[in-house]
Amino acid sequence: MNGAVVKIGQIGLGAWGRNLLRNFHNLPGCEVKSACDLEPETLERVAPSYPNIQFSSEEGKVLQDPEIGAVVIATPPDSHYRFAREALLSGKDVFVEKPFVLDIKEGEELIRLAEEGGRILMVGHIMEYHPASLRLKEYLDKGELGRIYYLYASRVNLGKVRDIENALWSFAPHDLSLMMFLLDKAPLSVSATGACYLQPGVEDVVFVSLTFEDQIMAHIHVSWLDPHKSRRLTIVGSRKMVVFDDAASSEKIWLYDKGVESQLDYNTYGEYLSLRTGDIIIPKLESVEPLKTECQHFLDCVRERKKPRSDGLDGLRVLRVLDAAQESLKRGGVPVKLSVKS
Ligand SMILES: NC(=O)c1ccc[n+]([C@@H]2O[C@H](COP(=O)([O-])OP(=O)(O)OC[C@H]3O[C@@H](n4cnc5c(N)ncnc54)[C@H](O)[C@@H]3O)[C@@H](O)[C@H]2O)c1
Repeated sequence: MNGAVVKIGQIGLGAWGRNLLRNFHNLPGCEVKSACDLEPETLERVAPSYPNIQFSSEEGKVLQDPEIGAVVIATPPDSHYRFAREALLSGKDVFVEKPFVLDIKEGEELIRLAEEGGRILMVGHIMEYHPASLRLKEYLDKGELGRIYYLYASRVNLGKVRDIENALWSFAPHDLSLMMFLLDKAPLSVSATGACYLQPGVEDVVFVSLTFEDQIMAHIHVSWLDPHKSRRLTIVGSRKMVVFDDAASSEKIWLYDKGVESQLDYNTYGEYLSLRTGDIIIPKLESVEPLKTECQHFLDCVRERKKPRSDGLDGLRVLRVLDAAQESLKRGGVPVKLSVKS
């Protein structure tokens, strides 16, 4: 397989699917052989830009084509399991958008099928491929921030209102996957509160609280009903603090040499704790579309038969937290414990 052209097929060509198609189409060593979408208008809109791709409204043209080695799934999440399962059973590698699937048992089954069939299964946790995330990961792994105290994220805007998944399942996979990637651990418990304003039973705004071991605390605010677009993560450590602002066009990371230190030599309690404010560093980051890096990673994994960074288990880890958060939402925000497995 090494060096060979990877032939892929894609299911779902909506707002995000078109970005995936553009990237896979442009990557060297990849041929998008066919793509499908249920909506005739979508096919009419997309097809003229890709004269060499076979478009259809039938998923079978992708899933049953023996020449296609890998399938990209970018449909609404309630169909991810069905398409991923069929693709894996047909011996194909799978890239499936977030949220991985909507049910833990389904996620576990897909992982098992991929393992048994020796197939690559990757979940579209794009934040794990963002150059800013990789820089944050370096900081944390090197201990640049000291001991991590807490993190908080906001992912809000006046945006696409969905009806299959709520704002939790639509947005929080990004922040959950990023936090777990950075901390290299899953939370011990989660609680969530939210409200449905626009449609019954679909939360438009959700506040999620997480506790991790070592007293690390995290908070995530997601909403598609907000006047401002915010894509921001703040991490506070004992030595330094960092803000990642993904809505900024440049200067996405600000690393603050700020903290509070205890003095050995002091007369009063006021002197015991002293504030430290040092330099602010705004690192230069590689200017690359995170989605391109993510698509390239999938192709590399397919060619080299290696485990993706955001593999099925990573998808399941996020899914378990979403599932527990949803249970907490239902029960009015009570904390829900996560098993050690996650
Ligand atoms: N990684 C990211 O940053 C990111 C961003 C946006 C969306 N997404 C994810 O991508 C997926 C798609 O989101 P979207 O915004 O493109 O949604 P969308 O509603 O714009 O597009 C979904 C498309 O799937 C098609 N479709 C539905 N059922 C189908 C079927 N059975 N066969 C073929 N086509 C079918 C629809 O016709 C539609 O064109 C979702 O899982 C979403 O969470 C990821």
